[in-house]
Formats: sequence, C-alpha cells, structure tokens
Amino acid sequence: MLSFQKLLKAQQISKSDLNKLFHQADIYKTKLETNQRITDLQGKILASLFFEPSTRTRFSFESAMNRLGGSVVSLENGASSSTKKGETLDDTGKVVDQYADIIVMRHPRPHSVEEFSKHVTSPVINAGDGENEHPTQSLVDLYTIHSELGDIKNLKIGLLGDLKYGRTVHSLVKILSTYNCSFEFISSDELKVPNEIKELIKANGCSFNEHESIDSEVIKNLDVLYVTRVQQERFPNKESYLKNKDHCYLAKEHILNPEKLIILHPLPRVDEMDRTIDELPCAKYFEQVRYSVPIRMALLALLVNKA
Ligand code: CP
Repeated sequence: MLSFQKLLKAQQISKSDLNKLFHQADIYKTKLETNQRITDLQGKILASLFFEPSTRTRFSFESAMNRLGGSVVSLENGASSSTKKGETLDDTGKVVDQYADIIVMRHPRPHSVEEFSKHVTSPVINAGDGENEHPTQSLVDLYTIHSELGDIKNLKIGLLGDLKYGRTVHSLVKILSTYNCSFEFISSDELKVPNEIKELIKANGCSFNEHESIDSEVIKNLDVLYVTRVQQERFPNKESYLKNKDHCYLAKEHILNPEKLIILHPLPRVDEMDRTIDELPCAKYFEQVRYSVPIRMALLALLVNKA
C-alpha cells in the first residue's frame, strides 16, 4: 500500500512509497521482458484525461494499464470534451469518476488537477499541471537512476535548460533533496530555478550551485546530467523565448567523461542538444522512456488495489 490515494505532487512520495514502487516495478519489468501475461488490473478501467499535448505520459500510462490487463477510456484533446461547452472541471470530475477506477489527468493550469481531485473519489494521478509539477515523470527519472546507477542517494545531479518553468525539474529536485544529493543548476538568468525550490534544498540540508553557462569541468564531476527543453509554450511572449532558447546548448564536446555519468531528458527535445550525443554510452533518455512503463504499472496497480 502507498501512503497516498491521489498523487498530486512529488512531496507526497515517501521513501517507503518509493521502495514499494521500485520493488513492484522490478517485478513487472521482469514479467514484461519474459512475455508473461499480467492480469492484476483485469476488469479495471483507467480514464486518461489530457487537456494538454502528450506523447510519452499518455501512451505509457495507457500502455501500462493495458499491460496490467485493464482497459482505458481516453480523452486526448480537451477540445473534444464538454469542457469546451463550458462544463467545469468539478463537474467533469464527478462524471468521469463514475466511469473509471482510476484517473490520470494533465492540464495546463497549475493546481488544476488538485482542484479536480476534490470532486473525485477514485485515485487521481497528476500527469502534469502547467509549470507546477509532474510527479510521475519523477518516478520515471528516479527509477531510471536507481536501475542504471544502483542507488539514488548521495549523487551529484546537474540540471540544464528551463529550470524556471520545467515542472519535471521541480518535482525531481524536491524528491532528490531528501536523498542527500547536491545540485548544479545550469540555465540562463531568466530561467533559474524558483526560490522556493532553493529554500527546500537548504531546508533538507543539501547544497546547490548556479551557473549561467555550461562548464565541462562542472559536468565532469556529475553522476547525472538532466537536460530539459526550453518550453516555448510557457513564455509570456515569443521574444523572451527566442532570447533564452539557445542559451545553454549542450554540445558533444561538453561531455568529457561519457563512461562516468548518465544523461537523462524527460523529452520531448527540440534543439537544446547535439543529436550526436545519442551515440555516447551515457545517453540514457530512450532507456528512460522504456523504464516508464513498469514504474507506471506499479503506480496504477498499487493505487487501484488500495482503492
Ligand atoms: N516527458 C513528458 O511528459 O512527455 P510528454 O509531454 O510527451 O508526455
């Protein structure tokens, strides 16, 4: 059992929850790799509500539910729902709750999934609420680090790109700062990590440095480099986006020790990194995509069984 029934923010995920999720994900990963049939959520329905574009999160949740023997009802475009006719999210919640055993939702407005969840009795999972949080991407990121490096404790983590609006960054740092990790934040001045996250790191007894350009010597000492896209859709205007978008471009030459660190990226990527980095052994972002299915299977199964 997990300590929460609705996963709305990263800080709800305790160390005990994370251990249970990793353990269950390892079981599912082995079963998937050996083509075993899984029926843990047979007869259960996932409602997948996406009011903002997604490829990985939606597909991996829907794939996870299907792999568990359950089924999916899906809204892939908010414009095709009755919210377009003026229905409130509250009413949408009260309705969808009666069709499904668990709900995954993405919405462009910060805290909207939390508001929605107040009108729902089924488990609800936040699949990204504007620039606020994306807690299940953190589960994917942490499960990848755990699987590739063996542990998530005492690591040196570099985060590069859009640290201001990057919800995956916010969720990930909140959790890793409880595992005695240290952070190197690399971004333009305008895209620095929010103060509330820096305060949390300090409160958790961890350290961080900020850099306004990429320094190979900083990257050389990292265990994990987490690259993010500069997200055009979050900027107040195009001029501001254009000013920031190429500020921290990651070139292959920046990676001096490809055997030591791993490079992650929540994806999608656009033009923030040299594609030839894909050839390096440290490029793990497509493995990260593969890890997303067993860890999301574990989350769905543990939440529905609790419910
Ligand atoms: N990582 C991630 O959230 O990707 P999508 O936007 O494609 O779901």
